[in-house]
Amino acid sequence: MSRVAGAVRRYLREGPSIEPDTREPSRQPGAIGADAAPAGGSTGPTAPAEDHDPVAVDDHEQPAARDRSKTVHGQAANAGHRVLVPDDAEVEVYLETALKTPAADRAFDRPGGGVPRGEPTSGQPDTVIVLDFGSQYAQLIARRVRELNVYSELLPFDTPFAEIERRRAKAVILSGGPSSVYDEGAPKPDPAIWTGGIPVLGICYGLQLMAAELGGDVIPATRREYGPARVTITSDSALFRGLEREQPVWMSHGDSILRPPAGFHPTAQTDSTPFAGLVDTERGLYGIQFHPEVAHTPRGRDILRNFVLDIAGARPTWTPANFIESTVAEIRSRVDAHARATVSDGLVICALSGGVDSAVAAALVHRAVGDRLTCIYVDHGLMRKRESELLRVTFEQNLGMRLVMVDARQRFVARLAGVVDPEQKRKIIGDEFIRVFEEEAAKLGRIDFLTQGTLYPDVIESKTTETKAAQKIKTHHNVGGLPADLRFSLIEPLRHLFKDEVRAVGVELGLPEAMVLRQPFPGPGLAIRIIGEVTEERLDTLREADWIVIDEVKAAGLYRSLWQSFAILTPVRSVGVMGDNRTYANVVAIRAVTSEDGMTADWAKLPYDVLGKISSRIVNEVPGVNRVVYDISSKPPATIEWE
Ligand code: XMP
Repeated sequence: MSRVAGAVRRYLREGPSIEPDTREPSRQPGAIGADAAPAGGSTGPTAPAEDHDPVAVDDHEQPAARDRSKTVHGQAANAGHRVLVPDDAEVEVYLETALKTPAADRAFDRPGGGVPRGEPTSGQPDTVIVLDFGSQYAQLIARRVRELNVYSELLPFDTPFAEIERRRAKAVILSGGPSSVYDEGAPKPDPAIWTGGIPVLGICYGLQLMAAELGGDVIPATRREYGPARVTITSDSALFRGLEREQPVWMSHGDSILRPPAGFHPTAQTDSTPFAGLVDTERGLYGIQFHPEVAHTPRGRDILRNFVLDIAGARPTWTPANFIESTVAEIRSRVDAHARATVSDGLVICALSGGVDSAVAAALVHRAVGDRLTCIYVDHGLMRKRESELLRVTFEQNLGMRLVMVDARQRFVARLAGVVDPEQKRKIIGDEFIRVFEEEAAKLGRIDFLTQGTLYPDVIESKTTETKAAQKIKTHHNVGGLPADLRFSLIEPLRHLFKDEVRAVGVELGLPEAMVLRQPFPGPGLAIRIIGEVTEERLDTLREADWIVIDEVKAAGLYRSLWQSFAILTPVRSVGVMGDNRTYANVVAIRAVTSEDGMTADWAKLPYDVLGKISSRIVNEVPGVNRVVYDISSKPPATIEWE
């Protein structure tokens, strides 16, 4: 079970927990998503609103935020009180519980390596390994490399060199980290990497390690450097090819190199260190004290490009089209092999949630196995307006997929009757989902595979101790001698992808942008945006108000620059006057936030005219609402969702 799934399962069981960050500073500019679309809505262009379809994504919108999915490797990015989840995480948890799926074995997992699994094929991309020494930017380094169309994996710092070779790495990057190389128990790599003939780039702590491990001296810096700095390139290193001599960079270190090891020479300096860059071309060892992966090092991508493409000679073949081709071949061969071995039809199921991950996963599997895939969509009645319709049109009509749509709206509303506690709502929804899904899956007969939209950050994080604990919880759930034929194998076609790559693959697969580029939506849906009891009538009210919010936000070209924008139905009623009549009706709140990862968020400075239009449309078009307020709370101390 993925860390996210584990965390969400815990969340469903125990409610929110506080996970303060005790490591590196959490919200530096330049962290994942810092180069995303501008925060706040106030800078966005406006556009006419007539005949607008909120489900469609407009051409005139601002560029998509590059990544708004997750925090960095295995750590909470702040003290946000809720576990961050991808949009389909809840469905995954429900499914794992419902179907008692064993945890995936990813021991020999590589993209394109599954035809048959483990054997090298032409489909295997060149790989750059990033060894994780605990930096909050480690995952970002891998993403930057992938933006060069080279596959990159994040592995623990102590990964044996033999394993790195086995993965046919073209290069290794050592991340930064919070330790000092002289700390007791400071993380160190397998020393074989220094002489293994694979080019190595050490970043920050990675450079200091390189210096200290190979005979140089590293000391606490007399002048620590945190934040923006200027480096001067002092030699003709291939790493800096094409760059001007003076470069603005982002620094974050407390130690400095006093004396480089034999064989190295300096390539860059700052006011406080003559060794901001080192190289030993003979052994293919490169190091830089600053962070090329963050947006505050503007030419950082060029430095990474020089290293990955020119110095290491990696081929830029990691593209959505290649990924789709090799993944589809891999899934097909796996399902076929299983069907032959078990004399079965090799049937696959997938739960669609309306989110991006399950949609893209299903589309990939469908391309591989066609009608052997059945998608199940549980309509719990807590979805946004026209959600189910969009799903049916996309999957059944456009993609020609087998889709079972289960109308469970009444069941959910019945079970939610009288319930006002947010966590109780979540538990009920999760539990009911499992029941419905079990019933539907049972009707399909023998199923061999379950498709999950697990993403790469979940896979990385599943190596942490926390997840090992979470996996135990799952094992515990699984004991009880289940019949072998109830055991599904998992197909996780997105397990090598970051969220932004999932979106790119979705677009390449022909999924509508409205599905692929949408804002996150919580698993329990509108139930946690209705404060107080959830009834059909209140759901209808909120659905209409929510539709108007999205419609106007899209019309203003702001949809993609916001992390989320939605309506909340408050339990408050207030007095108003409409026509000549006194009203006593519902208050709807509007929430729009900017965020990089959902862990912290700012309320969006939506233009007054957009707020004005939203307000007057809601009051005029939604029966039972006579007042609209705007939520100007940031997270923390508030959360994004009201419940
Ligand atoms: P909060 O409200 O904690 O939300 O600031 C952070 C992000 O998580 C989403 N969220 C949920 N997603 N099930 C989900 O699948 C939930 O119960 C849930 N609660 C919050 C929220 O929409 C935001 O993106």
